[in-house]
Amino acid sequence: DEALRPLGTRGVRLLATGDDPVLTTVRAEVARAAQVARGTTTSAPVTLALAADALAAAGPGAAPRLRTAAEHAIALAERPGLAGTLGAQGFVVTRDEGALVVVAAQPRGLLAGWHHLVRTGGDTSGEAAGDLAVHVPAQAVRMLDHWDNLAADSPMGPVERGYAGASLWFADGRVRDDLTRVEHYARLLAHTGINAVCLNNVNVHARESALLTTGIDQVARLATIFRAAGISTYLAVDFAAPITSGALDTSDPLDDDVRAWWERAFADVYATIPDFGGVVVKADSEGRPGPFAYGRTHADGANLLGRALAPHGGTVFWRAFVYDHRQDWRDRGTDRARAAYDHFTPLDGQFDDNAVLQVKLGPVDFQVREPLSPLLAAMPHTRLAMELQVTQEYTGQQQHVCYLAPLWREALDFRPWGPVGGADAAETDARTVADVVRGTDALPGGLVAVANVGDDPFWTGHPLAQANLYAYGRLTWDPTLDPSDLLDEWAARTFPQAGPAVARTVHALLDDSWHVYESYTAPLGIGFMVRPGHHYGPDVDGYEYTPWGTYHFADRDGIGVDRTRATGTGFTGQYPAPWRDVYESLETCPDELLLFFHHVPYTHVLHSGSTVVQHVYDTHVEGAAATQRMRDTWRDVRGVVPDEVFDRVAARLDEQVRSAAEWRDQINTYFWRKSGIPDPQNRVIP
Ligand code: GCU
Repeated sequence: DEALRPLGTRGVRLLATGDDPVLTTVRAEVARAAQVARGTTTSAPVTLALAADALAAAGPGAAPRLRTAAEHAIALAERPGLAGTLGAQGFVVTRDEGALVVVAAQPRGLLAGWHHLVRTGGDTSGEAAGDLAVHVPAQAVRMLDHWDNLAADSPMGPVERGYAGASLWFADGRVRDDLTRVEHYARLLAHTGINAVCLNNVNVHARESALLTTGIDQVARLATIFRAAGISTYLAVDFAAPITSGALDTSDPLDDDVRAWWERAFADVYATIPDFGGVVVKADSEGRPGPFAYGRTHADGANLLGRALAPHGGTVFWRAFVYDHRQDWRDRGTDRARAAYDHFTPLDGQFDDNAVLQVKLGPVDFQVREPLSPLLAAMPHTRLAMELQVTQEYTGQQQHVCYLAPLWREALDFRPWGPVGGADAAETDARTVADVVRGTDALPGGLVAVANVGDDPFWTGHPLAQANLYAYGRLTWDPTLDPSDLLDEWAARTFPQAGPAVARTVHALLDDSWHVYESYTAPLGIGFMVRPGHHYGPDVDGYEYTPWGTYHFADRDGIGVDRTRATGTGFTGQYPAPWRDVYESLETCPDELLLFFHHVPYTHVLHSGSTVVQHVYDTHVEGAAATQRMRDTWRDVRGVVPDEVFDRVAARLDEQVRSAAEWRDQINTYFWRKSGIPDPQNRVIP
């Protein structure tokens, strides 16, 4: 609430009539700001208006501020395409002799405008006076997927891959009675830019499957809270729900009874939650049911749900995370990385307009370093969303500091058809991944991420992991934001009284923390090497002889997965030029992805000039040492941040230091024992 003070002191006039729940929220926020700033002088006021109301209020005798608002409203109405561009979610801002005016066409846009003002403290000096600054989200869909289960005794606990306590909204098999924290959470998400949440785990077990049917009244309580924050509610559904929640003996997507079952189910859902967003589906993946059982395609499956949702305006997010998790490790011809592309590219063009294919960032599974999923460049006739993992399953489980915004920025900025300005610049498709998933106004894709929040007092277990949640939301709105600036924004919001010392410390710990984490864990893009099951801590061969398809193939001579067309699995061929050739060749493959694409001797010389084995030794020693420096740096803010935050972070940094040393020693010893190549500095365990 501290952040509201500057706006409160300016005095905010709200021109918006009607009882829309989002407008009610804006009204409450404005009143709260006035309350926070009570007793201070009003200066350089702010007007917040819906276009229609601004027009209606601003007659010839209206105050100058109203006239300005009305002018913007007229500009909105008249500037070709502007109202369309702003749509439901955008807003315009102008500054006129210190007075600020924000106009939106729709309530959600007005709420976004309000949060923009809060974030900037009403200081929009970045925007030229008199100019109409147009703010529209880059992505129309900005979603968080919660992997929450209904109870602590659910398979995988209360939250699958959750590192922040139990679910904020489910407990003991139902929606909690007290949803106060959910209200705070919805407000927080709206502030970051999120506009959609999926409430339950993609692995939908029997109990959770009933949320869609007998549980929908409980879901409606949550939808009411999220609606008021401008956030749509989604559920993950079980493809076999007609069997598990209904009385059918099939879930064949082409069966008439199955179709009728879904139609009835969604009719009931929309009777209870008229603005229900839709569903998220994990099918034929890691043991979940799906259309393959009936010899049908994933387009058949997605369209079955899509057509039942279509009359109500709902959308199906269909996950592309489909692969064989019962692989024979002896068979080097099968490549898990290939799976999504192999399954889905033949279906391009077959998905209905209200189906979005949700593709994980990398072709394997949220590793600390992966190339971009080639599927994102291979479905021109399909709506595509990219899925990220904010919860730090493979990046330290919120025990380790690992700020992921730089990783996400790299992916969003990546140009699947090559860098701009290359030899064939004119021919090149210059779109970035952010452009690809933006889709079109009529058929947008979006960004989706697995959430990292639970009922922990600090929301995210590790207090500094909040920065990932904040940065994710902001990047969904604007993928060109600088991760370092986002840290400043987050630190200022989170530690309002703390000042520059905290910002400095936060930067020192977080700015490079992704690279630090990478440097002491699985090297050069090889991935995994984690303990099977819970995925925390090192176990180099933990997955090597298992069915999961996540191998490194280390032997006495070398390590890495040959995914070339020439001699390997052919995965490089799934990329368009130039990447298919860049990754194919040892000459051009970037060091950080070397072992993802190539099997090389330990003595292979990297572009950096080091050998593979020496690089491993050096980076692991340096990475572990960096965590010790992080721990020391944190001591600078003792007494500056609240004690409970200080202590929690300090305890987690102790664990990070311990764990990083364990990673260093296991990885380095492994490479030494396999290769027999000593570290010139003798830093490995014999
Ligand atoms: C990972 C994770 C699972 C999850 C799966 C998914 O494999 O370990 O817990 O279910 O991703 O994204 O579906």
